[in-house]
Amino acid sequence: MKVKVDADLCIGCGLCTETCPDVFEMDEDQGVAKVKVEEVPEDAQDCVRQAAEDCPGDAIQIEE
Ligand code: F3S
Repeated sequence: MKVKVDADLCIGCGLCTETCPDVFEMDEDQGVAKVKVEEVPEDAQDCVRQAAEDCPGDAIQIEE
Protein backbone atom coordinates (compact mmCIF):
# COMPACT_ATOMS: atom_id res chain seq x y z
CA MET A 1 0.00 0.00 0.00
CA LYS A 2 1.07 3.54 -0.76
CA VAL A 3 -0.49 6.71 0.55
CA LYS A 4 -0.36 10.39 -0.34
CA VAL A 5 -1.51 13.60 1.27
CA ASP A 6 -2.94 16.20 -1.09
CA ALA A 7 -1.41 19.39 0.31
CA ASP A 8 -4.13 21.50 -1.35
CA LEU A 9 -6.84 19.67 0.59
CA CYS A 10 -5.06 19.22 3.93
CA ILE A 11 -6.18 21.77 6.51
CA GLY A 12 -3.36 20.87 8.88
CA CYS A 13 -5.51 19.55 11.70
CA GLY A 14 -2.91 16.93 12.59
CA LEU A 15 -5.39 14.13 13.18
CA CYS A 16 -3.60 11.70 10.87
CA THR A 17 -0.31 12.20 12.71
CA GLU A 18 -2.05 11.20 15.93
CA THR A 19 -3.87 8.24 14.39
CA CYS A 20 -0.86 6.93 12.54
CA PRO A 21 2.40 8.55 13.68
CA ASP A 22 4.58 5.96 11.93
CA VAL A 23 3.29 7.09 8.54
CA PHE A 24 2.28 10.75 8.79
CA GLU A 25 4.12 13.76 10.14
CA MET A 26 3.49 17.47 10.03
CA ASP A 27 5.51 19.62 7.70
CA GLU A 28 5.97 22.52 10.06
CA ASP A 29 6.95 24.96 7.30
CA GLN A 30 3.97 24.21 5.09
CA GLY A 31 1.49 23.54 7.91
CA VAL A 32 0.28 20.37 6.24
CA ALA A 33 0.77 16.66 6.81
CA LYS A 34 3.21 14.62 4.80
CA VAL A 35 3.89 10.94 4.36
CA LYS A 36 7.22 9.76 5.68
CA VAL A 37 7.33 6.27 4.21
CA GLU A 38 7.65 5.05 0.63
CA GLU A 39 5.56 1.95 1.31
CA VAL A 40 3.11 1.59 4.22
CA PRO A 41 4.19 -1.27 6.51
CA GLU A 42 1.68 -4.09 6.96
CA ASP A 43 1.03 -3.25 10.60
CA ALA A 44 0.25 0.40 9.81
CA GLN A 45 -2.30 -0.22 7.06
CA ASP A 46 -5.33 -0.24 9.35
CA CYS A 47 -4.45 3.08 10.91
CA VAL A 48 -3.82 4.58 7.46
CA ARG A 49 -7.32 3.51 6.39
CA GLN A 50 -8.70 4.96 9.59
CA ALA A 51 -6.83 8.22 9.07
CA ALA A 52 -8.13 8.48 5.48
CA GLU A 53 -11.67 7.92 6.68
CA ASP A 54 -11.41 10.49 9.47
CA CYS A 55 -9.49 13.19 7.60
CA PRO A 56 -11.71 16.30 7.58
CA GLY A 57 -10.22 17.51 4.30
CA ASP A 58 -10.44 14.18 2.47
CA ALA A 59 -6.80 14.79 1.71
CA ILE A 60 -5.46 11.26 2.26
CA GLN A 61 -5.32 9.15 -0.86
CA ILE A 62 -4.61 5.45 -0.62
CA GLU A 63 -3.14 3.47 -3.50
CA GLU A 64 -3.47 -0.26 -2.93
FE1 F3S B 1 -4.33 17.08 6.91
FE2 F3S B 1 -6.21 15.32 6.95
FE3 F3S B 1 -4.02 14.89 8.24
S1 F3S B 1 -6.49 17.51 6.99
S2 F3S B 1 -3.32 16.90 8.85
S3 F3S B 1 -4.21 15.08 6.05
S4 F3S B 1 -6.05 14.34 8.92
